[in-house]
This record gives sequence, C-alpha cells and structure tokens, in this order.
Amino acid sequence: MAAACSPAFLPAQVPVIPAPATVILRSGTWLPSVSLPADLALTGDEALARAGIDVQVVPGSALVDPESYSLDVSSKGVTLIAPSAAGRFYGLVTLQHLVNVGRDVAGAVRIPALTIVDSPRFPYRGMHLDVGRHFQPVAFVKRYIDLMARFKFNVFHWHLTEDQGWRIEIKKYPRLTEVGGCRAETMVEKRFDPYVGDGTPHCGFYTQEEIREVVAYAAERFVTVIPEIEMPGHSLAAITAYPELACTDGPFAVRTTWGVSEDVLCPSERTFEFLQDVLTEVLDLFPSPYIHIGGDEAPKKRWKESPLAQEVIRREGLKDEDELQSWFIRRIERWLAERDRRLIGWDEILEGGLAPGATVMSWRGMSGGIAAAQQGHDVIMTPGSHVYFDHYQGDPRFEPLAIGGLTTLERVYGFEPIPEALTASQSRHVLGAQANLWTEYLKTPAAIEYMAYPRAVALSEVLWSSRERRDWGDFLGRLPYALRTLDMLRVNYRVPDVIGLEGDALTLGTRIPVALFTPMGGAIIRYTVDGSDVTMASPLYRGPFELPVPAEGVTLTARVFVRDGRASAPRSATFRRTTYREAERLGRRSTTGGLRLTYVEAAVRSTAAIDSLQAERTEVIARVRRPGNERPEQYALRFDGYLDVPQDGLYEFALTSDDGSVLDIGGARVVDNDGLHGSEQKSGMIALRKGPHPFVVRYFQAGGGAELGLFVRRAGEEWREVPAEWFRHAP
Ligand code: ACM
Repeated sequence: MAAACSPAFLPAQVPVIPAPATVILRSGTWLPSVSLPADLALTGDEALARAGIDVQVVPGSALVDPESYSLDVSSKGVTLIAPSAAGRFYGLVTLQHLVNVGRDVAGAVRIPALTIVDSPRFPYRGMHLDVGRHFQPVAFVKRYIDLMARFKFNVFHWHLTEDQGWRIEIKKYPRLTEVGGCRAETMVEKRFDPYVGDGTPHCGFYTQEEIREVVAYAAERFVTVIPEIEMPGHSLAAITAYPELACTDGPFAVRTTWGVSEDVLCPSERTFEFLQDVLTEVLDLFPSPYIHIGGDEAPKKRWKESPLAQEVIRREGLKDEDELQSWFIRRIERWLAERDRRLIGWDEILEGGLAPGATVMSWRGMSGGIAAAQQGHDVIMTPGSHVYFDHYQGDPRFEPLAIGGLTTLERVYGFEPIPEALTASQSRHVLGAQANLWTEYLKTPAAIEYMAYPRAVALSEVLWSSRERRDWGDFLGRLPYALRTLDMLRVNYRVPDVIGLEGDALTLGTRIPVALFTPMGGAIIRYTVDGSDVTMASPLYRGPFELPVPAEGVTLTARVFVRDGRASAPRSATFRRTTYREAERLGRRSTTGGLRLTYVEAAVRSTAAIDSLQAERTEVIARVRRPGNERPEQYALRFDGYLDVPQDGLYEFALTSDDGSVLDIGGARVVDNDGLHGSEQKSGMIALRKGPHPFVVRYFQAGGGAELGLFVRRAGEEWREVPAEWFRHAP
C-alpha cells in the first residue's frame, strides 16, 4: 500500500488511536448519515441528543474504571454509557475519531455499526512542556492541552520555572516575574564556546488569572495540570530576582545559555519561607493532587562551600550534601502533605533517601523508577531513551536543530513503561508515563508541534491500550486517520519518513525485497538507487519489488511527497551481498554457559580505550547486561565468549546503550554504537552458520544514565534480548 486509501473501515480494524480495549464491528450496517456537532467531546447532552446520540452517565454501572466507557453505534443511533464525566468524555473522543474517519469528501459521515468497550491501561498519561526556556502564549498552551486530550492524555505537566526564566506570577514576590521573567538574550544555536548571544531579550510570564483560565480549560478536557516549581536547582531566575536565596553574593543574572547552573537555592530559613509562600499561591491556583518540585540537576558545589549549608548538615545530623538535598525535599514534602498534596520530583530525589510520600519521575532511564517502585513509591516513567520529545526523530542532517539523541516514532511506540525488573505488585506503583518537551531549541509553537506529533500519537497508544493490543504494523495501518485528524486541526506535525528502510541490510542472494509505506494520506513515494537526491522527477514507487544488489552494493533513498507540497525527510538504506560466517569447530565440552565479564574502573570516552586498561576484576555472567555490582559511573565492561546460534541465518543484532557500546563477531564490527551519548539503539546484520561464533561486546558508562542491552531478530521477527542459552565461554 503506497498511501492511505478508502474504505476507511476495514473489517478487522476500527482505525482509532489509541486502540480501544474491545471492538465488535457489525459489518453491513451503518449509522445513517447524520449531522453532528463539530466538537463532540465538548458538546452538552441536549445538543448530542438532537444529533441522535444518547449519552448516559451511570455511576456504579458495570464499568468500574471512572475513565471507561461503552459506545454502541447502530442503524438506530449512538448510545454512550460511562460511569463518570471522564468516561463520557473519552467515549465522545472515540466517537469524534470515528466521525473524522467516516467523513467523506462531501462532508457526510458514515460510521459502521459497532460496539466499543474501553478503558485505559494507565491512570497517568502525561505530556510536559517547558515554558522556562522559551515562553509560549496562553493560546498555544491551551491548544497543546486540547490536542493531548484528543488522544486521551490526562496530565499536563507545566514546567514553569527555570534558570532561564520564571513564568508564573507570584503576588508576594513581584520581582520573580519583573526580573526573573526576562533574560537579556538567548544563545544562538549551540554556540557555547565561543559564546554567541542573539542580543534580543526574551521575556514572558502567566498572570494568575491566565493560569486559572488554563487550569479551567484543561479541566473541561479532563486534563489535570501539574505545576512544576523547581528547587533547589534550576532556580537562577528566582535567585536573580531575590539574591538572598543564594549561598553566595553573586552577581547573578537570568541565564542566557543552556545547561546546569551551580547557583542553587541555599537551604536557609529565608529560602523555606520563600518556597512556602510561593507554594501557598501555587496551591491556590492548581487543584492538582500532585505538585512537582523538580529536584533534578542541583550541583552541590555551593553547599559544600557554604558555612550556612554546612551548619544545617551539622544541626540536622546529616551525612553529606546528598542527605542535605534529601532533607530539603522531605521538608517540602511534609509541608505539602499537611495540605493534602503529594510531591513529585525527578529521580535525583532518591539520592540521600526518598521523602516518605514522594512520587518519582524517572528520567535518567528507568532505574530510578525501578528503585522507587521497589521501595513502595509511586513512579511516573519519562526515560530519555523513549519519551524525550526534544530528541531528534530522524537523521539530524535533515532535521531542525535539536538537543541530540534519536527517538523515532517506532522507538516511542516500542516503549514499555513496566520494567521487567518489577514484580506484579511493585509494577502497580508505575502510574504511567509522560513525554517531556524541553524547549532550549524549540522557540515557537510550530517547532513544539513538530517535535510532539506524531510521536505523541504513538505514546497515546502505549499509555491507553493494553500491552497485547499494541502492534506496530497495525498501528501504521491506523495512523493515516490520526494524521488526518491532525491535518484537520492544522497541526504542524512531522511528516513521517518512508517506512520500510529501517537500516542497512545484507542479502545472501543477489536481490533484496523492498516494501515501502507511508501513513500520509494523498501521498506518493519516490526513490533513487544511484545515491542521488530524491526529487519530484525521481522514479515513483508503485509497490513492493525485488531490488538487484550488485557486488559493490546499492543505496536506496526514498521520500514521501504529499499533495499539498509537504515532503518527508529522505531516508536511505544500503544493501550489500554477504556470505555465511562458518561456525567454530569446538568440542561441546570445551565451552560452558555464560560469558566472561571484565570490569574496569576508568573514565573513558570510547570503547577503543577499554582493552588496554587494567581490569578491576573478572567474573562469569549469564547475559550481556550491567552486572549490578558496578559503580555508578566512569567504568567499562568487556564481555567475551561465543554466540552459539541455533540455525543458519541472517541475524540482526542491536545494542541499546548509554553511553557507548560495540559488538564484534569473529573480529568484524557488527554494531557500532560507540561514543558519549544518552540511550541509543544501533543495529547491524551478519549471516551466521549454526554453531558457536566468537564475539566481544564492549561498553562504557561515563556519567548520567547507564543502560546496556543486546538484542537480536531475524527477518519478520520482533526484537528480543539475546537468550542466555546462546552464550558460552571457554572456562
Ligand atoms: C531533566 O531532564 N533535567 C529532568
């Protein structure tokens, strides 16, 4: 299928995203074409009744989850039953998607008879927006919330204070917005060194009246707004406005560059009085049961050098500055708890001990979330590996400047918020997950929408639909209709790359099958096989074909062109011929299960440095994973052994790591995921004969998040972790 086409309703699927829990389609029967209100979910019952939609909110019905609903469409009309107003809303959101799918060019709407019974997998389905780095107008904040709600997200995490700007009016401290709401200028691109500023002040804040308006607007859409007031780090704008909050005399200025400031709030009584005053006004504005207090990226340098901070450590019997931060957060947590609010903080709040009622937002991978859930705390998963929507979503050569990373639509869709490491009862502490949109490099609403969509559409299904219901191929079949909805709303989403060119590939023959797809309606795919740029004059893709692969290999590049003039970024893959690598002839008894792991403690920035370093120790380990007894950073691992593959075949291996990793098989580099980086996945192929093949995985962890996994698949299979039975080593 080269492009989305009608009929919209295929028998097997109702193209709604997120996929409902159960759908029964009664083919052949249709709801008579009706005229429906434009925005169903926000329409009152009387107007709905006039359109033939019977809405019953029945508390205590068979539907237990307050967000659940059942929707019945027949030739007689539409009946929606929900246990609460929230369920009513989600039922109408689903109906709206059906209407958008079923509307023909003349505007008539035809929906097949069906019954949907639906409820969400997770109670917390969030989207975050940083308005500290780049202030956004109220109208856009509302639009952002409206779009979220159309995909059944229910939490808007509003990141309101930063080093680069304080964005919320606090009546008792007017200088927070007068002074802290403005920075002198903004650094240009990534011109840290030498620094280049744009010479243009950047200012903005929300009045309390505007905040109430946004909170009320969100509530109509069953979205809770969680405010974030950062402490003790990311507070330079507040400190600039009120320098007495710092441990030093300054001078201070609202920050014009990105990064982490060493100037943090000093743990003085003045600071607590200030924070409690600010939070008093915040609680009055936001009915949310949760209040986010940041807690991330707070360097301890100022506290180490501050007599006041050191005196607090002595007075409170604390061990060090980590415990001081923990004490700081506990004090705020207690204050919030006394007012019936719950504290959320980034995973740094684990360091030095978690406050009793705290909920942890896990961002440096999943490990903070795992630790918190194991301690019986609630968790929201927001790992940089899958849901940092400020990361690139395609090849950086063709994308607007972004902070880094690579988080494709498929990677978002593959996100699983419940880690394997948790037991069933621990995993109940995972309330859900959230996408984060940090705006260092996102200045405008259009830029934010480009990064958020369609990735938020993929995340909506991760959060709402059951794990069993999730299927990438099926999702791609439904995605055209979600994109149509985004088109109707004029969302500046990223036109997805051609699907079907996921990476370079090898063939054991002289041809390779090519099957390309675009979820864009009214679009065509063009391609080249000679390395040249794809233009409107390049050959048209007409359907799956077999591409000849010459001895020197061939690069296929393809692009999507939409009727309205939009085009996707180009996407390329290189295909080469290969032959089998013969297995080693080893007696079964010359090897034994597991791998040899060499552990090194050193600060390295490349896997190439590892082999020449002194080993701290060696051990035998069952799989390619972090052993669990390593120090948090500045170490490296080397895994040696044999990969005993069960049959002849073309194998694709992937390394997911933070920081770098490489896989060599028989001395040849198969996966190169080297370098200093956050969580990234890279893959490579090799043809292996059944039997053992010597291999090495090298990995290093410089700082920040730590992650390592080795995955495998064959054509048509899902990725899976390389099974322990495949690993052997010479004892
Ligand atoms: C974060 O990204 N600093 C939470």
